[in-house]
Amino acid sequence: MNNILRGSRVKRSSKKANDFTSSVSFDGPLSRHVVKVNEAHMLSLIASGEVGKEQGAACLRFLDRLPGHMKVDPSTEDVHHWLEQNAVASIGMDTAGYLNLGKSRNDQVAAALRMEDRERVLEVLHEAEGLQRSLLRVMASYGDLPIPGYTHLQRAQPTTVFHHMQSHFEALGEDVERFTQLYGRVNLSPMGAAAFAGTSVRIDRASVASWLGFDGLVNNSMFAVSSRSFVLETLSVLEILMVDLSRIAEELILWSSTEFGFVELGDEYSATSSIMPQKKNPVVAETVRAKCGSVIGEATAAFAIAKALPNAYNLDLQEITPHLWRALDDATSSVSLMAGMLASARFDAERLKKAVNEDMSTATELANELVRAHGLPFRQAHQVVGELVRVAIEEDVSLEKAAEESLSQVAKKVTGHTIKIDKARLRAVLDALKTLRLIGSAGGANPKFAKRQIVQNKKQIEILSNWLEGKENKLNESTNGLRHAVRSYLKPEVRS
Ligand code: ARG
Repeated sequence: MNNILRGSRVKRSSKKANDFTSSVSFDGPLSRHVVKVNEAHMLSLIASGEVGKEQGAACLRFLDRLPGHMKVDPSTEDVHHWLEQNAVASIGMDTAGYLNLGKSRNDQVAAALRMEDRERVLEVLHEAEGLQRSLLRVMASYGDLPIPGYTHLQRAQPTTVFHHMQSHFEALGEDVERFTQLYGRVNLSPMGAAAFAGTSVRIDRASVASWLGFDGLVNNSMFAVSSRSFVLETLSVLEILMVDLSRIAEELILWSSTEFGFVELGDEYSATSSIMPQKKNPVVAETVRAKCGSVIGEATAAFAIAKALPNAYNLDLQEITPHLWRALDDATSSVSLMAGMLASARFDAERLKKAVNEDMSTATELANELVRAHGLPFRQAHQVVGELVRVAIEEDVSLEKAAEESLSQVAKKVTGHTIKIDKARLRAVLDALKTLRLIGSAGGANPKFAKRQIVQNKKQIEILSNWLEGKENKLNESTNGLRHAVRSYLKPEVRS
């Protein structure tokens, strides 16, 4: 097949150079959108009379018959070039020669990218909804089970499985919000920008946008073709999502180690060693943790390519596309697997209860008690309890025992006054579960907050689920509308 783009201005060609600059190998996800863009554009050309009804109908018929998964000739520059070349070869120059009137590959690729990106964002959000449901299930099953809370990965204060998982739920809630806001900026039509300056050919940007399911237009035609900010923003949001996921993954890896022994992950999310038969390795969590690095890499590459590009279109922009695909693939599968893996996690209640009581992580509450009931300034109470902890460690006894025996003496040393604390009260402020119930600050680890929080979480999931349904319905409606409009030109009486 003759190359329709070569032979006039550029005569010689090099296969090596062509292969190097072709985007065919990563245009696959764009191809069905490219067909739609051609259809919507042709409808507009026919409507304004720029292209005759018969020629237009022939183009639409050609486009309508293209298979969903097209095999694009790898010797072409890209899917856009291939489609036009294939059209010329199939229906002739007299008709197919009008396909690109008033449009360019520059606005076309930007439109197709946005159309694929918006669908992939919806897909990630579906998986995120699944992950939120998984987190909710863990919270419902293990709600008030206490678990050691850490800062600097040192035992800090007791918390609950519920409270810990709620922190991840809220991180994910922010990710979801970022995606839904981003969607509004992605779903705008660049069509009509043509190469970059706009066009004298009569086309109706608004109708084309609406046939393609866009919510509006990218206003400036130069910005429309030269900007990949929507890709960079998608990658940024994916990056943050993956950082959030990698933190859950890391915790599951730590918690499932013998040293922690808090959790056992499902066999289907684990593997064994080829030499050490006793091993159960958290391979899915490890892969999610690593994929976070890959997504950061894809985003970094895209940013580096986009920076300092002069207006308007440059072929550099093409190189950004595969980074978006890979980041989307990695993130989508990571979210999906994380949802399944969390649902498979079994927490060891005995081990957790023992863990929170065997350390001194209720020391802060003892200090609070010295302030509350004995009138010490907090800094002094902190010093007194710090001394008691040192005594407990040196004498290898519990903090309770050390407090019973040495509180008055230590208090005297630090404050100049002795302190007497009731035994039962001392036990209460050092008991992990009891101290959790003392927490009154909103959003804290008191198990009694769980019920209301779960209701709110469910509401949030419901809102996301409705939002997704609304967007999907709108996209389906536009696809059906476009098909209907195209087919109306293919009725027998219009056929040549
Ligand atoms: N394949 C290109 C891309 O992915 C679109 C074509 C732009 N080519 C051009 N010569 N203007 O961005």
